Amino acid sequence: MDDDSVNSPQPLESIPDGLDLTVFGDIVYPKDAETVIWPGVNIRTTLPFVAGSPAIPNILFEDAAHVKKLSETVQTEASWIVEMRYESGDDEEFARRIRVELCRNHVVVIKGHPFEPTPLTASDIRKTFGIEETRAVVSSDAILRSKPNAQMIHVAQTMQEFCDATANHEIVRCLLDLPNSYVHPHRFLLALDDGRKARDQSKDYFHHRQYNPTDIDRAMLWTLIHHGMYHTYIHHDAAGYATWVQIRSGMKVWVVVRPSGFEDVKCRSDIRRSLQTIAQDSITFDKNAVRIAIYATPGDIIIQPPGTLHEVYTPVPTVAIGGHFYSLDCLYLTEMNRHYDLDYPDLSNNDHPHVYQLLVLMMALLPLQKGRQLSLKNLQALVTMVKNPKRYQVNVLADPDAMVLKIKGKFDDRVFAETVAEALLSDIICKLTVGSFSKNKDRKGDYLFHQLTGLDNAGEIVDWESALARFQANGP
Ligand SMILES: [Fe+2]
Repeated sequence: MDDDSVNSPQPLESIPDGLDLTVFGDIVYPKDAETVIWPGVNIRTTLPFVAGSPAIPNILFEDAAHVKKLSETVQTEASWIVEMRYESGDDEEFARRIRVELCRNHVVVIKGHPFEPTPLTASDIRKTFGIEETRAVVSSDAILRSKPNAQMIHVAQTMQEFCDATANHEIVRCLLDLPNSYVHPHRFLLALDDGRKARDQSKDYFHHRQYNPTDIDRAMLWTLIHHGMYHTYIHHDAAGYATWVQIRSGMKVWVVVRPSGFEDVKCRSDIRRSLQTIAQDSITFDKNAVRIAIYATPGDIIIQPPGTLHEVYTPVPTVAIGGHFYSLDCLYLTEMNRHYDLDYPDLSNNDHPHVYQLLVLMMALLPLQKGRQLSLKNLQALVTMVKNPKRYQVNVLADPDAMVLKIKGKFDDRVFAETVAEALLSDIICKLTVGSFSKNKDRKGDYLFHQLTGLDNAGEIVDWESALARFQANGP
């Protein structure tokens, strides 16, 4: 278990004025590299730079131009970004405060959480995450990515080689989604992760559960390691997952983006139009978007609701941990983004083939959710995703545990989940005539816009305790 509550330094309260990140420890970035000062914080950083030829002095000139535009246009405040100070003690209560923000599609930035600093060296990575120096890793390479029509942008190497290249100004790479063996998410983050809780509880309630899909485990906790000067272009995280990330060393300019018209969408075609103003993995700088910079320093934790568009500039060597999760508080955003991604996958990143299993478990174990504030739209989103898997995923993979039960002639938790879904539908949702899902051009009939709410509102809270009592009295 991560013992980061002991002897931890206090995170930075605020970034020191005039911080110069063109020098970082022993690393002095090339003098030929252009530098910028970021608004609101007076931090100077180097732009992406790898020395090239007289004809092309900077191989990463396109990345540099994009990040420069970012530095000239980002704002630093928005009503949909909420900063909180971590309060130790009651992690459930702290998680509840975050849930309120997730219901409103707000990004949360947490300051003041204890952390264990993890410098970007091979021995520190091994001691902190249990990743050996000799381990083979595959990094994404900014130089390969910059080539015209780049297809192969990855490089295989050892962890030692990756870390040693940190001070080499001819190499700019990153490692994404590395699993780690030693560090666990902080307790309040575990309290937010309803998918993880359902999976863990399922072992007590569904004894046939034997198989843990690797993609689900890997999505729950990962490590990010970046060389300085790497830019990650705009995307939202896949599978309708919410995401948390904590900086362990270095610094990131984490830019959250809202496309034009996003605040006023009134139907799914409005959402599509709004999101399609953003070009993914492109140096194109979309002007019709609001970009808010979060300057994340060691200890800071950023929590993004599902579908949050973001691009990230890492000016200096940086280590971070993070995880994806499903929350019952923002499943309406999960549903909307999974539906959008099926038709337009270019804005998202990884594939997570077994998430349907996680949603089924959340549905099947919903009756255990006592004392929770659950909203109509979030319940309807879960019901819709469980009952219509192919609306969200091209290939819904067979569940090995369910297949074993089928051979034995027994029912599985998917059947149970559908039964729970039906009961909830008839008890709560139909009575309130929310509707389910509509591809119509207007909001009528689409639960996402129930009672004229939009993407910043999870809708009315249901009388969950009464529904649960009726459900348990009648049986599924
Ligand atoms: Fe991301």
